[in-house]
Amino acid sequence: MTITFRGTTALITGASAGLGTEFADQFARRGADVVLVARRADRLEEIAAEVRSRHGVSAHVVPLDLTEPGAVATLADELEGRGIRVDHVVNNAGFGMKGAFAEADAERIDALVQLNVAVLTSLTRAFLPALVARGSGTVINIASTAAFQPLASMAIYGASKAYVLSFTEALAHEVRPQGVTVLAVCPGATATEFFDVVGDARAAVGAMQTPTQVVDAAFRALARRKPPYSIVSGVQNKTGAVIVGLVPRRARVALTAGLLER
Ligand SMILES: NC(=O)c1ccc[n+]([C@@H]2O[C@H](COP(=O)([O-])OP(=O)(O)OC[C@H]3O[C@@H](n4cnc5c(N)ncnc54)[C@H](OP(=O)(O)O)[C@@H]3O)[C@@H](O)[C@H]2O)c1
Repeated sequence: MTITFRGTTALITGASAGLGTEFADQFARRGADVVLVARRADRLEEIAAEVRSRHGVSAHVVPLDLTEPGAVATLADELEGRGIRVDHVVNNAGFGMKGAFAEADAERIDALVQLNVAVLTSLTRAFLPALVARGSGTVINIASTAAFQPLASMAIYGASKAYVLSFTEALAHEVRPQGVTVLAVCPGATATEFFDVVGDARAAVGAMQTPTQVVDAAFRALARRKPPYSIVSGVQNKTGAVIVGLVPRRARVALTAGLLER
């Protein structure tokens, strides 16, 4: 199956920084128009201007807090109103938090689950039927190497990414016969604003990759004749994920807790 990018439109959440900005640039480089969603309108406008001038595609900006009630419907209505048809969905917006669950801010926990889990699911549900009907298109969901084991001190984040990986692989299998490609991308530590938001550099475990390395790996996977349902970006991260799978389940928590508190 060859995925077409030229003349299509990619919707990218969390496009104002990090992996989302890189996805926008790489979709545009392949000839796709882009729709950029995040809260910081000024950053989105700057990125859109850069993408347009560099790649000669259309770049649409939709400033939105995706954790607001009804945000996914608002986004879908906005795109319909502007006559924008989406062919590729990148569910990338997400954040992490670190610290003892019992002491964590309750509203922040709710926002994390809302953004990393609920919004990703609703957005996929909102745009997938059109892709299935057309028998083409892609959904890329950003999971993490955090998905492979429970993470004491990042319990909600790890669990949210385990959900993303499980959901995405299952969905990939469901819709592959209908011509839609669904891919979970599992980056390890990547040099973005992620760790500033987490507020604890110890959350970065292993060698740091660049957003370009992660997004290159995603597009390489999509270029395969039969794209995998998920990928881990980077050799060291892949090896880590395999090793964790060999460790008895209970020991996995202790192992990763040690790494996060080092
Ligand atoms: N960096 C890593 O080490 C790493 C590793 C594995 C997985 N990931 C995952 O990769 C994805 C991208 O993160 P990143 O590393 O690129 O981090 P980042 O640089 O902090 O980017 C996060 C993006 O999400 C947007 N966002 C946050 N809250 C939002 C909200 N309520 N509504 C709309 N947009 C929102 C941010 O934009 P605004 O602030 O403008 O809203 C920003 O564009 C996340 O799902 C993250 O969990 C990251």
